[in-house]
Amino acid sequence: MQEELNSELLSVLLRWYKAYGRYLPWREGQEPYHIWVIETLLQQTRIAQAQGRIARFFERFPTLEALAEAPIEAVLAVWQGLGYYQRAHNLHRAARQLHWLGGWEAVRASPDPLKLLESLPGIGPYTARAILSFTGWRGFLPVDGNVLRVLSRLWGIASNDRALYQEKADALPSSWKKREVAYAFMDLAQLICTPRRPKCLFCPLASECKALHAGTPEAFPPRRLPREKPIRYFLLSLCENSIGVWLERRPLRGLWGGLWSLPIHEVSEQSPRKPDILHELKHFRFVGYIEVQKEPPPATKLIPWSELTSYALPAPILRLLMQEAEAHGISISVQDS
Ligand code: ADE
Repeated sequence: MQEELNSELLSVLLRWYKAYGRYLPWREGQEPYHIWVIETLLQQTRIAQAQGRIARFFERFPTLEALAEAPIEAVLAVWQGLGYYQRAHNLHRAARQLHWLGGWEAVRASPDPLKLLESLPGIGPYTARAILSFTGWRGFLPVDGNVLRVLSRLWGIASNDRALYQEKADALPSSWKKREVAYAFMDLAQLICTPRRPKCLFCPLASECKALHAGTPEAFPPRRLPREKPIRYFLLSLCENSIGVWLERRPLRGLWGGLWSLPIHEVSEQSPRKPDILHELKHFRFVGYIEVQKEPPPATKLIPWSELTSYALPAPILRLLMQEAEAHGISISVQDS
């Protein structure tokens, strides 16, 4: 099936965007470093919370060079509380590789900038295209989950396969592969073509929408069945006093790599006790039981309660320790995300 979009529809979409599109400050910039970091942060946090994060990130790492030369601890500290720390590691590794390759000029001058970007850690088909399209260096319509929903309905395609939509989007005429078009699709997805109860009456693409014509816009794209995540059980050693708590720094690779944590030991069995931590991770559910220790566990360091938030800790451990701190009469404020 050849999916088509005509130029009249394009002008209707762009007119709609001009009148109703969202004002998001970062859309005005065309700096590749900014676009890359912002897209990565937006995958991590909702737009309403993103602004503060973005400002803090650029304050600390204003350039690619600054990020590449920073120690990973500094990156993790800024990432603190966002979860999916693998993304922070990837961002840092990619910055180092790109800096070493010659920076953004190397991307711009490359005969295949898409391939080059996609070869960097953490940069996938969406982010690579977003960087190239939003800088104006190349034309793309980057397909994220939101754009996928609009295209699925518009074209009446009952699939969830992002690669399929990206392939079709890559084959569109160049007039559809400009950043305003991508922003228009994103806003349409958020404001009109919502997962439930889409507001088709107000949609500029309604006349061409196959899912609407079929009378079942909500049925597109088909819902993915949530995968059953495995459950894993852990013991956490807690040794504390009125001054602070003993934490260890986790190895760089693996769960919560490079973060500070109570020492953790995985066990094969569920304990009969009520768990102290229940936490959804990307690939499994974390169930944790606290084991109070009288002696500091090996390879740990005493972190004063008052300094806890200057260290990068996994969010569920930080939450738990803040309650402990409160029990000692110390109240800690967290930076909002
Ligand atoms: N503008 C630029 N990138 C965006 C994104 N990922 N989501 C919403 N608006 C954006």
